Amino acid sequence: MKISNWSYEILEGPAKPVYVYEAPVRFWHWAQAVTFFLLCITGFLIGWPLPANYADTWSTYLFGNIIVVHLICAMLFTLLMIYRIYWAFVGNKYSRMIFILPFWDAMWVKGIWKTAMHYLFIEKHPPIYVGHNPLAQTAMFAMYVLGSIAIIITGFGLYAQQWGWDTSWMTYFGWVTHYMGGAQVVRTVHHALMYYLLLFLSFHLYMSFREDIMGHDTQISTIVNGIRYFKEPVKK
Ligand code: HEM
Ligand code: HEM
Repeated sequence: MKISNWSYEILEGPAKPVYVYEAPVRFWHWAQAVTFFLLCITGFLIGWPLPANYADTWSTYLFGNIIVVHLICAMLFTLLMIYRIYWAFVGNKYSRMIFILPFWDAMWVKGIWKTAMHYLFIEKHPPIYVGHNPLAQTAMFAMYVLGSIAIIITGFGLYAQQWGWDTSWMTYFGWVTHYMGGAQVVRTVHHALMYYLLLFLSFHLYMSFREDIMGHDTQISTIVNGIRYFKEPVKK
């Protein structure tokens, strides 16, 4: 089987199963998915707090607990991102795909269009890729990677605000509030980024399941056991 250098498109069959997602990538994917869901639930409750009766806040400490869960998951989410960036350096070539878009490769750029046509039910036989298809790869970089880094930075800006000026957290992350133009801007942007990531997730889930059923290769089982299987022989 022959695959292209940058887009990992299959150029010549017969396509054989390929070990694409190594165990650390699979572990990272599911661990960050759990922390992500908990961050959205607790973040939503911080943005739209539940009604509290007078003195309830002290007896139940509900809002405090919601923030504690948010912060624990936030620290884990951040550590997982650092771990994932580290793995891009030491892992296989597919582990680097979500961080580097090979826009200099004409075949990869054409693949964005062909995949989009396939998603719109226009192109019946799109190129088959061993790693992510170029459209998914672009969304993973532009929406997931950049969105997550931005939500982590604004999150730490908010966390430093909770500690207050004249603390070391402000020494490290006070610049976020300073450069963004105020405490409320940081909060609003942090909140809006949640919707940006949820938008990514809606596409991601729809496409993963749709491609698993209608596409030419496996998807869901690949992010579980790491191996990409091809359903049809590649004729080229
Ligand atoms: C039940 C929930 C989920 C399912 C079924 C799922 C499914 C998948 C599948 C099938 C892939 C591989 C796609 C491919 O081979 O091209 C994948 C990769 C990926 N997913 Fe998910 N996913 C879920 C939750 C999430 C969440 C919550 C996020 C983050 C917001 C996320 C972010 C990613 C990223 C960034 C990758 C690329 C992995 C890499 O190459 O490092 N997923 N997911
Ligand atoms: C996917 C990741 C995350 C999501 C979806 C998320 C979501 C949210 C949302 C919706 C809010 C409410 C904002 C509002 O007041 O309207 C919030 C608040 C907050 N988040 Fe996050 N967040 C994430 C990651 C982080 C990270 C990495 C940190 C870093 C420590 C963090 C720290 C905070 C803090 C300190 C608050 C403010 C709590 C308060 O107002 O007292 N978040 N988050």
